[in-house]
Parts: sequence; C-alpha cells; structure tokens
Amino acid sequence: MVSFKELGLSNTKRMFEIALERKFAVPGYNINNLEQLQAIIIGCGESESPVIIQISQGARNYANQTMLRYLGQGGVEMAKELGFNFPIALHLDHGNSFELAKSCIDNGFSSVMFDGSHLSYEENIKITQQVVEYAHERDVSVEAELGVLAGIEEHVKSDVHHFTDPEQVEDFVTRTGCDSLAIAIGTSHGAYKFKVEKEEDIPELRFDILKEVRKRLDKFPIVLHGSSSVLSHYVQMINQFGGALEKAFGIPEEQLRKATQYGVSKINIDTDGRLVVTAIVRKILAENPREFDPRKYLGPAREELILMIKRKNKEVLGSAGQAKYIV
Ligand code: G3H
Ligand code: 13P
Ligand code: ZN
Repeated sequence: MVSFKELGLSNTKRMFEIALERKFAVPGYNINNLEQLQAIIIGCGESESPVIIQISQGARNYANQTMLRYLGQGGVEMAKELGFNFPIALHLDHGNSFELAKSCIDNGFSSVMFDGSHLSYEENIKITQQVVEYAHERDVSVEAELGVLAGIEEHVKSDVHHFTDPEQVEDFVTRTGCDSLAIAIGTSHGAYKFKVEKEEDIPELRFDILKEVRKRLDKFPIVLHGSSSVLSHYVQMINQFGGALEKAFGIPEEQLRKATQYGVSKINIDTDGRLVVTAIVRKILAENPREFDPRKYLGPAREELILMIKRKNKEVLGSAGQAKYIV
C-alpha cells in the first residue's frame, strides 16, 4: 500500500478549482509506455500545464500495474530533475469496478474514474458512492460518468449515444459525492467519431446540453472523454506510408475551445497521441528500411508528441502557463 502523496503526485481538487476559475481544461493524456510518459512530462513541463496522466485497464494489462506506479513516480522525479514545477495526477481511466478502483488507490493513484455509464442509474450511483467513500478517506479524487458515449470504451461497446440528461446531473452528483463528472454531448472514443464523408460535415457537439448541465452544476468540474481531433496531417502521413485509415474524423479543435469557455474542466486525449506515434514510426521505417534500433523511431515519435502536447495545451485547452496558479 502506498499513498499518492508519498509519490509526489497531486489529486485533481486544486487543479479543477483553478481550471473553473480561469476557464481552461486540464489535459487528460493516456499512457501505455515510457515514451508517452516522457513526452507528457516534457510537453506539460515546458508549457507549465497541470496534467492528469491516465491509465486505462488496457494499459494496466499491457504495462503491469506495479510498473505503472513506478512510471508515475518516475515522471514526478524526472519533472523535478528537469526543473519543472507543475502538478501531476495519476488517474485510472474508465475503471469498471470498485475492486479495480481500490487496487489503483492502494497502489498510489491520486485519482480514479468509476465508469458506470453502462449500468442502470441506481447501480451507477451505488458503486460510484462506494468508490467515493474509499477514495475520499485517502484524499483521492473520483470522476464519474453519466450518459453513454458512442464508440468503443474498454467494457462498453455502444453504437449509439445516450446524451447525458441534464435533469439527472444534480441528483447524481449530490448523491454520489463525486469530484468531477464526465458527460456525453456527442464526443466518442477512437479515430472514427463521425459517419461523414468530409470534415465540413462534422456536426456540432450538443452545447445546448452542456449549457443545461452547467446551469444545474455551477462551478462543478465537467469532463469530456473522446476529445481527440484526429488531426488530418497525421492521418495523411499514416496513409502515405502504408496505413489505411479511411474517413477518420475527430472533434474540431475550435469546438473544444468553445467547450472550455462553457466550463469544461478536463479534456481527454488518447487517439491523437497514438496517431502521432504511428505516423512518425511509419514514416521513419518506410524511409529507412535498414533501421532496426527502436530508439531511432521511438525517439522522433516522442519529439513529435511533445510538440503536439505543447500545442494542445497552449492553443486548445488553455492549460499552458496555468501551473503557477495551482502549485
Ligand atoms: O477511453 C479509452 C482510452 O483511449 C483507452 O483506450 O482501452 O485502448 O487503452 P484503451
Ligand atoms: P480519444 O479516443 O478521443 O482520444 O478519447 C480518449 C479518452 O476519452 C480516454 O478516456
Ligand atoms: Zn474515455
């Protein structure tokens, strides 16, 4: 058993307080390996942004939970060594049971998500409450979800959206005691978010629902999952070097900027990072068929990821330069 405080991590409380006050979104970037973690530490350190490093269940299976704890701690120490001063949360993404959330808390995570969006309303409340009780005794933050995102979540495969019902949010938040709430307003996971032929046909997010939620939950952190923009530059690079990503579209960055202005406090990005890494690795290996040293393609992929993270923080989320108000 280890507390996140011993690892130098932060919970999300103060990050969200300041995000709400200063109208920006804290980035939730997912990791599965060392290079992604390094890119986040350098990218967020250089842009002086708070960050929530997210570990999905898939990531836990891939990288081993003990290894991930040490990666989190290593990230904090690397940041210090590089002279950065920004808060880092280590967060369970889409936890699907109390036991999983507990295991992450016991292993030093500073924040956990319980995703009960696939459950009945009452069942979602019941397990979220249980997670909140265990987490809050240890000062760990809890994200909950209400409404179902279309697309593929680890344990939820849904073809349809069930937009969040604004009439339920107040009751849900009050009864569960959660610290932030993920809502469904038209975002979805992965690289194929819309069934459209061209970018111009991408529909607007349901800002009307967001506004209604905001009315009922004044000054409460709202989270958007599935918020990669599926940047066409990287999709094209992947396709140019042997990939076959067709009709891959994401949430236009302009809409994400608008969401932060309506008070969204956390924006989750995984797919965009995956696309960056794949694009660079494909390009380098295609252009250098004799190359076999992983550092020669993962290193440049990491560099490009740093650039993407810095640009997102500065131009989309508004989180760049905000760390000094939190730490
Ligand atoms: O919400 C989903 C995240 O992008 C994690 O994806 O389950 O493939 O690790 P994963
Ligand atoms: P994307 O697939 O749009 O990057 O969403 C990631 C996410 O929501 C992680 O929880
Ligand atoms: Zn998600």
